Amino acid sequence: MARFIDEIRRTHYCGELRAADLGKEVVLFGWVAHRRDFGGCVFIDLRDREGLAQIVFDADYTPGEVLRPNALGTRGEAFWNMSQVKAALALAEGVRREWVIGIRGVVVHRGEKNVNPRLGTGEIEVRVAEAVLFNRAETPAFSVEDDIQTDEDIRLKYRYIDLRRAPLQRNLRMRHEVNQTVRQYLSDQGALELETPILCKYTPGGARNFLVPSRLNAGKFYALAESPQLFKQLFMMSGFDKYFQIVKCFRDEDLRLDRQPEFTQIDIEMSFVSQDDVFRLLEGLLFRIFEKTGTADLKALYPSGAFPRMSFAESVNRFGNDKPDLRFGLELCDLTALSIEHDGGGLALVKAITDRYKDGTYRLEVPAEIVKAFVIPASANFSRPQLEAFEKSLREIKGFKGLARAKLADGGAWTQSPLTKSVTDAFRLAVNAKLGVQDGDILCFQFGTTDVVNAALSKLRIDVAKKTGVIPESGHGGKWELLWVVNPPLFEQNEDGSWAAAHHAFTRPIDEHLELLSTDPARVLCYRYDLVLNGFEIGGGSIRLHDPDVQQKVFSVLGIEAAAAQEMFGFLLEALRSGAPPHGGIAIGMDRLTMLLSGGATLRDVIPFPKTNQGLDTMSGAPVFVDPKQLDELHVAVAPTK
Ligand code: AMO
Repeated sequence: MARFIDEIRRTHYCGELRAADLGKEVVLFGWVAHRRDFGGCVFIDLRDREGLAQIVFDADYTPGEVLRPNALGTRGEAFWNMSQVKAALALAEGVRREWVIGIRGVVVHRGEKNVNPRLGTGEIEVRVAEAVLFNRAETPAFSVEDDIQTDEDIRLKYRYIDLRRAPLQRNLRMRHEVNQTVRQYLSDQGALELETPILCKYTPGGARNFLVPSRLNAGKFYALAESPQLFKQLFMMSGFDKYFQIVKCFRDEDLRLDRQPEFTQIDIEMSFVSQDDVFRLLEGLLFRIFEKTGTADLKALYPSGAFPRMSFAESVNRFGNDKPDLRFGLELCDLTALSIEHDGGGLALVKAITDRYKDGTYRLEVPAEIVKAFVIPASANFSRPQLEAFEKSLREIKGFKGLARAKLADGGAWTQSPLTKSVTDAFRLAVNAKLGVQDGDILCFQFGTTDVVNAALSKLRIDVAKKTGVIPESGHGGKWELLWVVNPPLFEQNEDGSWAAAHHAFTRPIDEHLELLSTDPARVLCYRYDLVLNGFEIGGGSIRLHDPDVQQKVFSVLGIEAAAAQEMFGFLLEALRSGAPPHGGIAIGMDRLTMLLSGGATLRDVIPFPKTNQGLDTMSGAPVFVDPKQLDELHVAVAPTK
């Protein structure tokens, strides 16, 4: 073994070899992917991070002259020594899958009829002169192939084996490429890469934090940073002007395909900037990332260099959420105003809503209850059980009560529907006209609280698009749609009528709405923005509230007294009073972005060692119970588990 590692050294990665290497003497190291034994002649596919090379052990083979000078420069007897060749064959006869070996050999052509066009190395093979066994391997729990059906739990338990598979190797390389591009680009743009603490002070609001007991300070806890938000703002107050960090963040949230408890942000903050400045920097960054990862030519898609923008209100109105997938149409249609005009149109559930607005209080910006529709085109040709299956999957939405449907028949009649009997002709025809529906279309209605209606119909829109093949079940399908969603409301109203910050208390209201802070908080929009890619929120940020007067007004809407503000955000408030430049920033979800670029279906496809949806690391077994002595040291008592 020492000879291979110390003396002759690796010359190439297996997957790198091409016809241009014919005649070269090479040394390869790797894992045995497949082995075929033809009695006296063994073929092995040797795998390393660059791919597979076919290597051939054959005691009857002798090469002609080595055609080219090579790195090793071996010649004559030393180059092709029959006792080494025979020993190599004996070794090859005994190796098994995933054993780790090294070989020295010569690159030759496979012969035209053996060329494998699906492999980068498909034209060549390596005839082996000498081999070494570095290590044996136990039979793996599953085979290392591109497409395997193995249960994900098993793959996660043996993640180090799963990571040997080419798709995961490609995804993690993509991650590397994204990180390198971010560092290069942002550093070229004058941003400084600075670090911030992970052990932080707990502050209320935002995501639920992981807490870490302090051994040195009995009874006290750190929070794991859910983001570097406050610290990056402090960097601006310290005069660093432009900052970035590729940073781990921790949130104790319910997990799903695009949410992990531990994830990575590309975090950015800038001083003396407007929203447009932040957008320009991010657009440049994304253009570069798409280019460097070979994903798509964004210049062709967005010749102006800018991504489209849509207001939060428009996005929610047309698509039911603030992260619309613009790869397809199938928009929702708000029927609230029409329903008011028709006094409920004969439908009791609709009238219950329109009665709320009898006094003329209905405003599209802040409706509490709405009537909305979504049309499944006749061409989808769904059966009744399929339609019922859509409805069933909407039941996961809290507050969802059911999906009212009607099928459009001749003359605009609504059929196969409980609405048929009670709907007035005038309302039915007006709805048909507004929706622009045709025979056979399925009209789906939702009436009720804005949140539930939008959650249900936006999910239905995606489910129908996937089922009809308009977009693939997962992955980009070759389409890329980026969008800035801008100017959401600054506040949201609690059930008791009080106001809460919709995002956080340090987002700046848009200039034209400062007056509304004291008169109509519901209508105050702010300089917050999300970047959306193919229906996923890949980033979010805001221009911050740096001005103490406006900040005071925002706090008074939120009902936060000066003392309470000091208690919650003391150090930030003091820092803001110590000479704070106007500033703003954004954080991109690096894992989400990489998942989308790589066509992955979940974050687990791009995070090397992810957690399951139950927050478990099934490979190491984390989290675990710990020794009571350790808990004593931490001054922590654990309640008995139920
Ligand atoms: P925000 O909370 O919107 O903003 O987070 C920014 C981006 O991080 C990604 N993200 C996640 N990715 C994986 N798993 C999670 N659990 C998870 N949570 C969020 C999303 C999201 O868009 N400090 C602010 C940024 C700022 O205002 O500058 C922040 O953290 O892609």
